[in-house]
Amino acid sequence: MTGTSTPHRPRRLRANAWVRDIVRENRVSANDLIWPIFVREGENIREPIASLPGVDRLSIDLVVKAAKEARDLGIKVIALFPYTEMKMRNAEGSEAFNPDNLVNRATRAIKKAVPDIGVMLDVALDPYSDHGHDGILVGDDIDNDLTIEALVKQSLVQAEAGADILGPSDMMDGRVAAIRASLELNGHKNVLIMAYSAKFASAYYGPFRDAVGASGVLKGDKKTYQIDPANSQMALNMIERDLIEGADMVMVKPGLPYLDICSQASAQFSAPVFAYQVSGEYAMLENAIRANLFDEKTIIMESMMAFKRAQCAGVLTYFAPRIAKFLQS
Ligand code: PBG
Repeated sequence: MTGTSTPHRPRRLRANAWVRDIVRENRVSANDLIWPIFVREGENIREPIASLPGVDRLSIDLVVKAAKEARDLGIKVIALFPYTEMKMRNAEGSEAFNPDNLVNRATRAIKKAVPDIGVMLDVALDPYSDHGHDGILVGDDIDNDLTIEALVKQSLVQAEAGADILGPSDMMDGRVAAIRASLELNGHKNVLIMAYSAKFASAYYGPFRDAVGASGVLKGDKKTYQIDPANSQMALNMIERDLIEGADMVMVKPGLPYLDICSQASAQFSAPVFAYQVSGEYAMLENAIRANLFDEKTIIMESMMAFKRAQCAGVLTYFAPRIAKFLQS
């Protein structure tokens, strides 16, 4: 700021609200939100989940109400996860391919009452297996090809129930190709696949496993199928593979701690890349909000904006209805 040269004053672009508004590079809208909801048996039941303050397990009638609320808030997709009763779980996770299991009944009910909202279902065996793994155990190994046979059956009953998006979250090799082929063969050519492609073996899933009742039963860990948090090239390779196999969209999971992967994936691939702000990320923020460490709206919207800056097409987040309400206010 010496007398001779003209001072450089980039703060001019931040000097007041209107100028900040016109130069803002990214925006959050309700179209960016996918709302994950936990489903349980019963009627008119809203059951709190200890590890996820503010998130409840809902009986199907209340899930239908939540779907209406989502539609009214401009949320386009909800993702359903079941809390399967312990007596329905077994080694093969066969409740996963029961056409009348919880998520399939919930999907039918939603499609009847709120046909204009997208329903996404997870394809994996962990909410149904008595060992908490995403696949079928043979000895100590999750058998890849046996698991795929089960996932193909699971995805077919889900498509028949009316699911719009299937999210294979199991990390077996070749599952997207197998599911896509079976959907084609059975007249479900327009069912979308959002592959959990870059899914890391993460401690951030802890509260979710509690929510679906898998934490108490999980034997060992998921490191033989989920990606080592040290690896980014491997994650990009998994995305490429799933796109070649027929995925329409891919996902990076967890979200904020893996924003580098979101950003690289969006730059490298032309398909939509979604992020999952997972249960542990939600729990950290929500507990801090409740301890008055952060302003609720500011911290939640800042975390959403980070995903947009990393070029994510959208985010699965337990904050979805709150964000949609913030956007309306
Ligand atoms: C199951 C699945 C998990 C999540 C989504 N689908 C848990 C896991 O892989 O152990 C985690 C979601 C979250 O933590 O919010 N395959």
